[in-house]
Amino acid sequence: MDAFEAILTRRSTRKYRPDAVEPEKVKRVIEAGRFAPSGGNNQMNHFFIVRDVAALGKLNALAESAFAGMEADESTYPSLRNSILLSKKGGYAFSYHAPVLIIVANRKDYGNNMADTVAAIENMMVAANALDLGSCYINQLYWLNEEPSLLAYLRGLGLKEEERVYGAMVLGYAATEDGLPVRAPLARKGNEVTFV
Ligand SMILES: Cc1cc2nc3c(=O)[nH]c(=O)nc-3n(C[C@H](O)[C@H](O)[C@H](O)COP(=O)(O)O)c2cc1C
Repeated sequence: MDAFEAILTRRSTRKYRPDAVEPEKVKRVIEAGRFAPSGGNNQMNHFFIVRDVAALGKLNALAESAFAGMEADESTYPSLRNSILLSKKGGYAFSYHAPVLIIVANRKDYGNNMADTVAAIENMMVAANALDLGSCYINQLYWLNEEPSLLAYLRGLGLKEEERVYGAMVLGYAATEDGLPVRAPLARKGNEVTFV
């Protein structure tokens, strides 16, 4: 698959097989993230590759508990509202039970923290597609990046004092019949283009 095909057929996968991803493939995805551009070539992204089932469960449980304690109304950003309402119901899993969660942290006091994070995540999602793996951007840990219980847990995993989470993604084999991600293109009706 060439670069254009990998970009144009990348879609979000939200249903995963529990099967582990081969370490070699995980390594290639991480490499794609580490080779993303960074502002001023700062290379300050910190990648957490979470595959441990207990750690995945703990992160989901902490996020669910934090969201369940929040209030949402009509003015709340729809995706955040969805996380809050589903958490209040119980059984919410922001990581869609995918076998791999990649969390990207960066320095809190660095102006390009989110931009550098997202450049890496997009590289990794495109690489995942090229490797026949499904992926999906995950924003919940960014929304909760000052939540004390999650901060404490992530600190235990190696998050440094000056770092916060700015983005995440999940990775794994899609729960489709053939295990391949659904690649049907989604029409782009927005994303205006102006030639000058
Ligand atoms: C900044 C950003 C945040 C996103 N957050 C989430 C998320 O938390 N959960 C999720 O399922 N999808 C999330 N997405 C995925 C979008 O919903 C998805 O890319 C969009 O609907 C287009 O679909 P496609 O990825 O299949 O082309 C996010 C995407 C971006 C760029």
